Amino acid sequence: MSAPDSRFVRACRRQPVDATPVWLMRQAGRYMPEYRKVRKQHTLLEICKNPELAADVTITAAERLGVDAAIIFADLLLPLEVMGLEFEFEEHEGPKIRNPLRDANGIAQLKTDRASELGYVAESVQLVARHFGTRLPVIGFCGAPFTLASYMIEGRGSRNYVETKRMMYSDPEAWDELMRRISRVLVQYAAEQVKAGADALQIFDSWVGCLSPTDFTRFVLPHTKVLVAELKATGAPIIYFGTDTATLLPSIKQTRAEVIGVDWRIPINDAFETLGDNFGVQGNLDPVALFAPETEVRRQARDVLDRAGGRAGHVFNLGHGILPDTPVENVIALVEEVHAYSAKRTHAPARTVAF
Ligand code: CP3
Repeated sequence: MSAPDSRFVRACRRQPVDATPVWLMRQAGRYMPEYRKVRKQHTLLEICKNPELAADVTITAAERLGVDAAIIFADLLLPLEVMGLEFEFEEHEGPKIRNPLRDANGIAQLKTDRASELGYVAESVQLVARHFGTRLPVIGFCGAPFTLASYMIEGRGSRNYVETKRMMYSDPEAWDELMRRISRVLVQYAAEQVKAGADALQIFDSWVGCLSPTDFTRFVLPHTKVLVAELKATGAPIIYFGTDTATLLPSIKQTRAEVIGVDWRIPINDAFETLGDNFGVQGNLDPVALFAPETEVRRQARDVLDRAGGRAGHVFNLGHGILPDTPVENVIALVEEVHAYSAKRTHAPARTVAF
């Protein structure tokens, strides 16, 4: 860990802060001209696998925006490769897995002893951590077992997750084995990122909201609980993020991640109230709000901050990643508004001041 006393890490630990920390999912992405320039010369995977390039893209985005944390540039799907699944990114189509999982036999063949081959991500973390020192914390990340399993089985993004749920319901033992194998790789992968200097870890369970609360509790929670517990052992705070999770929050509490990331479909005050004390909440401006005129962007940012009400543990973010074509000036205005407006308001006092 390199910036344990930063605004972002303090908020993750629900300690008092001078202003609400803000970072944005996909802060390095196609909306940013600097990123597009690098992408003209290199594919997404080339950037991910070249620590100098990945560090450069990470640092440039964080510095340009003035955010409170740098998320390492990598992709959710990288661990699939070392487990034996090949994938590629088709221009404007998203990822495609060449040999998706079909059955228990395929699951039994997944490798779990090659996580060290993802060492290039830890190397990128190290370069970014060295660049920022105590100035800015670095966020490491990995996918969650459910969201990764959904890509492995569907072979691409999905709307209804039919094949994923078919496997879950028809062969629960194979499903559990799949979740265990993925988790085994993720623990090694994410722990290496912390060793390399990551100050926090975000687990992206982007698509978990497609599950009923009953299925989440039965098929996902037991594995996510183990993963979070093992990652907490690294000492870094854990952020568990999913979209469309309003009805899952009572179960998500049981993951015991320090911070829960929510999207805009739930007012953030409701998320704080449902989760109760002991949890930070990250979110939750609609990324599409960034297409509004700047005054409206600022107004919506203040609305999220008012709803969070200065509670300890608020980390400002979008409810999902920044979309391509988002105006960069609006993103910069958002960050500035979050800092200026939150610094003015009184934060939940850490202790009673005696007069
Ligand atoms: O700045 C950052 O947030 C760090 C970098 C990052 C990327 N992917 C780079 C990337 C992160 C945190 C991710 C996570 C990721 N990857 C998720 C979880 C977050 C989420 O959005 O829910 C998922 C589901 C993936 C898988 C993935 N990668 C998809 C579905 C796509 C295609 C969608 C698209 O926007 O084209 C990608 C490609 C990808 N990964 C891009 C970036 C910047 C797109 C731009 C490019 O092709 O260069």
